Amino acid sequence: MPNLIFAANWKMNQAPADAAAFLRTFTDQYPRQQDRRVLFFPPAVSLHAVLQGVRERSDLEAGVQNIHWEDKGAFTGETSGPLARAAGARHVLVGHSERRHVFGETDEETGKKVVAAFRAGLTPTVCVGETLAQREAGETIAVVKRQLRAALAGVDVASLVTAIIAYEPVWAIGTGKTATPADASAVHVAIRAELRAIAGERAAVIPILYGGSVNKSNVETLLAAAEVDGVLVGGASLDAEQWLAIVRAS
Ligand code: PGA
Repeated sequence: MPNLIFAANWKMNQAPADAAAFLRTFTDQYPRQQDRRVLFFPPAVSLHAVLQGVRERSDLEAGVQNIHWEDKGAFTGETSGPLARAAGARHVLVGHSERRHVFGETDEETGKKVVAAFRAGLTPTVCVGETLAQREAGETIAVVKRQLRAALAGVDVASLVTAIIAYEPVWAIGTGKTATPADASAVHVAIRAELRAIAGERAAVIPILYGGSVNKSNVETLLAAAEVDGVLVGGASLDAEQWLAIVRAS
């Protein structure tokens, strides 16, 4: 079983032609590795180009960056789980800090989106993380546990054990500041404990990714930290050469 996950969050970057060119460069130079999976989260309009680029490669998967919690209806500008699934997505990011802090998404809405993702057959990557003020106030673990509980509240254990969790401290996203491996590890250990409290021993299989200014220089030490099962990468995933260096990390 592959045990490492490398996820690229392209945010609002990479038009279809850029995505196609990226995947050509990437797949040419990246043969399948037995011990890892690579996930791409392009903008929804570029999902098709990514899927074309990764066809015939079951080690390379793709998803969308957000869904609405309703399956269909009058929600102008939104994409539902069933629509994303029908377009070929296998994964969805839920509760990314930019959704929470730029778009005001609440814990409750995040929970509804996780339920909607499973209903549609998508694997949610559930993102949690504290702000700088919360970290400085010593609230990191409490905040992350609260976000996790809320996000997973409506999910049964059988589904939960197929989810992916991402710990992304808000102060580390796009800032060039990373948590030290020890800091990341301490939070990942707390997340694992919380997952065990919810799902019992089966929670051991849930991957917990670290995200926040991961790059080719810091990825190896982060992956070496206890309970870090992979990385969720924004800025450094936009350049194919840099992304190649990251996914080859050991
Ligand atoms: P970053 O973004 O790697 O650019 O910090 C990570 C993320 O937001 O998922």
